Amino acid sequence: MTVTPYLDRVESELKELADMVDADQPGWTRQAMTETDLAGRQWALKRMREVGLDAHIDEAGNVIGVLKGRRGGRQLMTGSHTDTVEAGGRFDGMIGVVGALEAVRLLKETGQQLDHDLVVVDFFNEEPNRFGLSCVGSRAMTGTLNPQAFGVTDETGTSFAQSLQIAGIEAEAMHRSRWDFSRTDAFVELHIEQGPRLEEMGTEIGMVTSITGVSRFRALFTGRRDHAGTTGMEARVDAGCAAAGTVLAVERIAEQGNSELPGSKGTSGGVRFTPEAINVVTELAEIRGEFRSPQGSWLREAEEQLSSAAAQEAARRGVDVEVAWLPTQDPRPMNDQVVAHCRDAVDQLGLSRAELFSGAEHDAAVIADHVPTAMLFVPSHKGRSHCPEEWTDLGDIQKGIAALTESLIRLDRV
Ligand code: GLV
Ligand code: MN
Ligand code: MN
Ligand code: MN
Repeated sequence: MTVTPYLDRVESELKELADMVDADQPGWTRQAMTETDLAGRQWALKRMREVGLDAHIDEAGNVIGVLKGRRGGRQLMTGSHTDTVEAGGRFDGMIGVVGALEAVRLLKETGQQLDHDLVVVDFFNEEPNRFGLSCVGSRAMTGTLNPQAFGVTDETGTSFAQSLQIAGIEAEAMHRSRWDFSRTDAFVELHIEQGPRLEEMGTEIGMVTSITGVSRFRALFTGRRDHAGTTGMEARVDAGCAAAGTVLAVERIAEQGNSELPGSKGTSGGVRFTPEAINVVTELAEIRGEFRSPQGSWLREAEEQLSSAAAQEAARRGVDVEVAWLPTQDPRPMNDQVVAHCRDAVDQLGLSRAELFSGAEHDAAVIADHVPTAMLFVPSHKGRSHCPEEWTDLGDIQKGIAALTESLIRLDRV
């Protein structure tokens, strides 16, 4: 028996989440550790309970709901995240949570009780937060959240631990969220592609082969504050210029990397000058950036090249620089067996499919170190994502949810 997800239920749940956003930001913003994020995760908790899951929020802010299986003991896991980037869209993460809720309803309505327990997770803080840390909930669940992260501070001097506290999470208690993955047989995450390939090919489902590696940094340049009109060009210790040179180095390193190994990327996603004054030579400049690649060894090379480029840009201006590398995520292949079961499910539904590499990071990459994992993608209109224009047709989401549900049913037989 195949299942048909109900569009009206999926649409209204996506809309409920889309209504729960920061009104002061463009697009759809529900950033981790804000009131809207708290509301989003409370919403997920309520919805999980309504569909009949035994649900709670763990010590790391993950919303976890369990549908008891006939045999119990062994588990299957699915889910995604409800936090967004600033001015993001309505689908990144959300369809994996709403899709899991719909899958549970469909299983119940069609009387298909699984043997395995089905665990649905809305992972806390998947998107990089203002401390540059991502996949926080999944890292906590897998016991791979580095405690050093708690001491990282933002521009106001507030630490990550303090921000967590505002969100009702105690840093010291997060380790208690560690999940016993020895009981989990498979994890499948449904997500939008966030790139243009499926739409360009006219293909309905993307079977993810592997997920990009990511390496992020913060570089702080310290120069000297001086008068912009009276300080000669040769006399300046301009932190802003050292930072600007480093931004261009990120681009150069990534372009070179990409010509040798397609899929290598470099982005400077935040630059801050202090003071922010048009007539003052910049004293402090901070860059936050990242590299991505299908190959971990290239990330290590890029890290070295960037650290040395930043040192050179700083040294030739007499500026001091500190480059801090944040916890990295190495590229992660998906599990062949789980992918094969998902592929059979997609074929059974008569949907077209293509293998895809994920240039976006996902909780699935963190979970993949502990559990055989697969991801299913649905098309993103024009490949746009992390922007208000992010769009996936409901009909495509429906196919993705059907594929997710059938995949879980197949994995249950293993
Ligand atoms: C998450 O969406 C990422 O790829 O940064
Ligand atoms: Mn995202
Ligand atoms: Mn996402
Ligand atoms: Mn099993």
